[in-house]
Amino acid sequence: MKKKILITGAAGFIGFSFALKLLENNHQVIGLDNLDNYYSVKLKKKRLKELNKFKNFSFFKINIEKENFFEKLRKKKIDHIFHFAAQAGVRYSVVNPKKYVYTNILGTINVFRFAVLKKIKSVFFASSSSVYGDSKKFPQKETNQLSPKNIYATSKIINEVVAKSFSNNFKIKIYALRFFTIYGEWGRPDMLLFKIMKNSIKGTELKLNNKGNHFRDFTYINDVTSILYLLLYKKINKKFDVYNISSNNPQSIKKIINNFKKNFSKLKVKNVSRNNLDVFKTHGDNKKILKLLNFKNFTKFNKGIKTTYSWYKSKNDKLIF
Ligand SMILES: NC(=O)c1ccc[n+]([C@@H]2O[C@H](COP(=O)([O-])OP(=O)(O)OC[C@H]3O[C@@H](n4cnc5c(N)ncnc54)[C@H](O)[C@@H]3O)[C@@H](O)[C@H]2O)c1
Repeated sequence: MKKKILITGAAGFIGFSFALKLLENNHQVIGLDNLDNYYSVKLKKKRLKELNKFKNFSFFKINIEKENFFEKLRKKKIDHIFHFAAQAGVRYSVVNPKKYVYTNILGTINVFRFAVLKKIKSVFFASSSSVYGDSKKFPQKETNQLSPKNIYATSKIINEVVAKSFSNNFKIKIYALRFFTIYGEWGRPDMLLFKIMKNSIKGTELKLNNKGNHFRDFTYINDVTSILYLLLYKKINKKFDVYNISSNNPQSIKKIINNFKKNFSKLKVKNVSRNNLDVFKTHGDNKKILKLLNFKNFTKFNKGIKTTYSWYKSKNDKLIF
């Protein structure tokens, strides 16, 4: 059965990618985004241009921080909400901590309130691997103790707590998805892989924290959208739950950089000291989501990065990152 889906943050990386998957499968998608300028607005508009090619797509420029944001959507038919709009990024939480409170905490509460008002069947929202902080136990399980290192991570933990109480207090199902370093085509220019690709092509200097002595559980966007698509059809009995969305395969940043250096002699690296906001390693246990959905086939990192790099090269002239 075809569904009517509201995606918040539809001009963003994950929101756009999932909207595209839904539209390609003939679902009806309402996209919402305020097109903020945290990174290239031009890139966000390019993503929207791709979505606008589908007649089943409609877009609303809306700020979820506004109490009455849903007025424009009140009469729309919506079955499920995928809530991805947020102030992402760990570093920026030092520059503008209030933005995380307004967008991530207040904005998310507004989205949940709208979902209750509209009697939405289920809401899936983006949490983050950053909720685990500097873990001692790997792989990180959903039951691990949480230890946020910055306001971004704190805002995601608050979202989870609020979601649980909404699901208890109202007739609504809400599920938190803890994403682990998502990468791929149409990805985010503020994230390390895109910075590596950009500097490799331009021959400009990459600032590398802690000599690359970090590990990240990179998870390919097409695997993420496949998982989200399966979730849409999965009947989950619990009213609230939390799932890691991770490939369970952490990669050494140092090794990635060395591979790029080998293949792209132009890449220059400038070592800078460790940033205290960064965790040493992320490695998500994905057994819970795999068991729920019977999903097995994660894309190998080497393959995902090759596809991403080819895409980047083909678009680099036309997109502003
Ligand atoms: N990409 C990752 O690796 C990753 C990892 C962990 C968690 N997440 C979470 O997943 C979600 C999506 O991430 P992404 O990588 O697509 O980020 P993104 O920045 O590309 O997308 C977020 C979108 O939300 C929009 N937005 C911001 N504030 C808004 C507001 N007040 N009202 C309406 N729209 C607003 C932005 O314009 C942007 O297009 C976010 O919640 C992020 O915190 C992402």
